[in-house]
Amino acid sequence: MNSNKIREEFFKFFESKNHKIVPSAPMVIKDDPTLMFTNAGMNQFKDLFLGNSIIKYHRIADSQKCLRVSGKHNDLEEVGHDTYHHTMFEMLGNWSFGDYFKKEAIEWGYEFLIDVMGLDKNRMYVTVFEGSKEDNVDFDQEAYDLWKELVPESHIINGNKKDNFWEMGETGPCGPCSELHYDLRDEKDRAEVDGVSLVNKDNPLVIEIWNLVFMQFNRKKGGLLELLPSRHVDTGMGFERLCMIVQGKKSNYDTDVFQLIIQKLSSLCSIPYEQDEKTDIAMRVISDHLRAIAFSIADGQIPSNVKAGYVIRRILRRAVRYGYTYLNFRTAFMCKLVPTLVEQLGKQFPELAAQQSFIAKIVEEEESTFLRTLATGINMLDSLLVDIKKDGKTQLSGNSAFVLYDTFGFPLDLTELICRENEIDVDIEEFNLELKKQKERSRNAATVETHDWVEVNACAESKFLGYDHLVAETQIARYRTVVTKNKKQYQIVLTHTPFYGTSGGQIGDTGLITNANEIVEVVDTVKENGLIIHLVNKLPESVDGIFTAEVNKNNRKSSAANHTATHLLHKALRTVLGSHVEQKGSMVSPSVLRFDFSHYQKMTVEEIDEVVRLVNAKIRSNYICEEERECHIDQAKGRGAMMLFGEKYGEHVRTIKFGESFELCGGIHAERTGDIGGFSIVSEGAISSGIRRIEASTGANKVELDIATKKLIVEIQSIFNTKSVLESIEKLMKTNSELGKTVEIFNKEKTDLHKQSIKKRLIEEDGILWYISEMKAPVGVIKDIATQLYGEIPNIAFISTTSIDDKPGVVVMFGKQCVQMGANAGAIVKNVSKLIQGGGGGQPHIASAGGKDSSKLDELMDLAKSMAREMLYK
Ligand code: SER
Repeated sequence: MNSNKIREEFFKFFESKNHKIVPSAPMVIKDDPTLMFTNAGMNQFKDLFLGNSIIKYHRIADSQKCLRVSGKHNDLEEVGHDTYHHTMFEMLGNWSFGDYFKKEAIEWGYEFLIDVMGLDKNRMYVTVFEGSKEDNVDFDQEAYDLWKELVPESHIINGNKKDNFWEMGETGPCGPCSELHYDLRDEKDRAEVDGVSLVNKDNPLVIEIWNLVFMQFNRKKGGLLELLPSRHVDTGMGFERLCMIVQGKKSNYDTDVFQLIIQKLSSLCSIPYEQDEKTDIAMRVISDHLRAIAFSIADGQIPSNVKAGYVIRRILRRAVRYGYTYLNFRTAFMCKLVPTLVEQLGKQFPELAAQQSFIAKIVEEEESTFLRTLATGINMLDSLLVDIKKDGKTQLSGNSAFVLYDTFGFPLDLTELICRENEIDVDIEEFNLELKKQKERSRNAATVETHDWVEVNACAESKFLGYDHLVAETQIARYRTVVTKNKKQYQIVLTHTPFYGTSGGQIGDTGLITNANEIVEVVDTVKENGLIIHLVNKLPESVDGIFTAEVNKNNRKSSAANHTATHLLHKALRTVLGSHVEQKGSMVSPSVLRFDFSHYQKMTVEEIDEVVRLVNAKIRSNYICEEERECHIDQAKGRGAMMLFGEKYGEHVRTIKFGESFELCGGIHAERTGDIGGFSIVSEGAISSGIRRIEASTGANKVELDIATKKLIVEIQSIFNTKSVLESIEKLMKTNSELGKTVEIFNKEKTDLHKQSIKKRLIEEDGILWYISEMKAPVGVIKDIATQLYGEIPNIAFISTTSIDDKPGVVVMFGKQCVQMGANAGAIVKNVSKLIQGGGGGQPHIASAGGKDSSKLDELMDLAKSMAREMLYK
């Protein structure tokens, strides 16, 4: 059975058990500060488990794209070295939200694997939670009794808190679980060692395939467990592992999920798979990482230097390094695997197919950049190794290894590998110390302490009223304290709110929460796991009672205008540049709008002008906002509404139409396009390969911008005393360039004269021709003269100081012969420049420095002279 069919069977089975099959949520998470990537199927349902949102479907099943590379669940280092861990994997899951519990979850799990997939029940082992005294949770007798009906008791194993109590993070929904393990070993091995003893012992052939979690607790800060409002089931099955078992393989990488990619990779590098363990690992790493990278980019996460983007960049670099070291790739290769990946998964995950060339382009650019960095790093390491050997040492310092790691992306094992080939050790202890210091630095920067929620008024779902109202009577549902960088703030959830929480690129509202006695300022509003959270610097004295929540009207109006302008801009870009333009990010605030989109070259001035004209024409058309709040997603799609990849859309969506612009959008908009009041583009540029960014201004901000531009032109006109400034500027530039040439000629003549006079004044001492003097010329001119003399006199030793307008400087130069004798201008300048409070340096033959204090120039000259003499006459 091929992998696509296995996935289909899973959906069919749970559909027959009345489950709603839903699409995977994006792998990149946008509204949960505790998580960067989806690391389990249940993430997208966290708000339901926490009771933040109303449950629409009580039974759901899906295949969720997951990434485990950071935080609590992190498998990165194992990936590729073993046969069953992955960065990105699909998790098949079925859920019950306050509906069925242990009985059905266990029976259906067994039925699907044994009856539908045809697995061997004698090879299956199950675990049940043994209980935990510290948490005051008992042995899971109920699960044990249910399993006893299906498998022999000898196949039921008690598991501890580590393996059998599932928690998503430090806090949040959790509960005891029952894992299903499968024994893939040969009959002979099974006869020798009982499978039961190998469960959860990291044996690659006795592996966990399905985890059935019985969610009933919420772990609070400080560790206390509290019961969730109702009991739920959360199951997660490793899709790639299931494929391995069903397809009779012993490695996930031998299934059709990975083999297509591995075969393509093998043909690109002309190395067969299963020839050598090292090249096999490299191929596994690359085929795994390719999926993680491609899916992240498809969900809108471009590799970058911060947060989630940095995680993706690191994964990509890990793969490239394996390709470079073991498969001899010197040019971009992963981008060539993207079509194969799309061929295999494009149907289940249309976001991949739709963005194939975009993904390949981004991957290629990242790879090429890193390959260049890698080459620079290798050169650097080579020269370090030469120095080490020259000094008769046998160890590379941990500091150098860390610089290679931190700046050039060299993991320690690559540095070690190259060093080993040169019979050099690496100071691992020092490296680890540097690494620890770096981790501490980043931890300190990011410390956020979030306290538990304090419930004030019971509320099934906080109601958002902001599409229709700016003011609302409300109550506080709950609040909590958050401490960031020693700053204490509070987060408040209201039973009803007109405040829009940051999402879809639009910045959250600000405003006031008031009652008869108090005014509390809302400094920001964010969205988290289905909650709208108001950020305030102080809590009301009394949190009970009725409050009025009021959004800052002016800011809201400007944000709304900017958001609508963003839609018009999106449409205009597609009209002017083509339908390959896709939104890749946006930021809408009261003062500015920023729009990122896919396009492969710089926009021309004409294209920019055309976009500005089009947007302003749509503003003048004064289209009314046609909003539909509960449109079925299929209907919206059918009518051609623009959707964004990487967004989580429900079954019912909100659509926003202004003339021909028609998008799925949850944001706040102007009532009519005329409210935007005018639009102009402030800047257009690249933010990474294939992605461009436009910053634009609307309404009153645009007017101010126009006024400032006009003012600037008037000022320039008055300087030139003419209206035709362009002509005047051109004339000025021409005169400037002619003058420049004349000055150059004069300088050259002066330099020649200087040079000749210096040559006459050289003093010979033991075969060295000395020039030691102060010169009234800028450091740059002296350096020019010195450079010319270097080419002419091999035995010259030149030291010149200067001080113009109290700005001191020094230039030291040694001819070739002097350098061979051990003279080093760089070393002298580095040393003496401290005396003029300056810094500088250079090469052994020439070096210069400028400084701030001229008072010790004589001392500097003496010291430079004596150092030079020491070097030449030692
Ligand atoms: N949340 C559980 C896991 O990730 C089951 O889906 O293992």
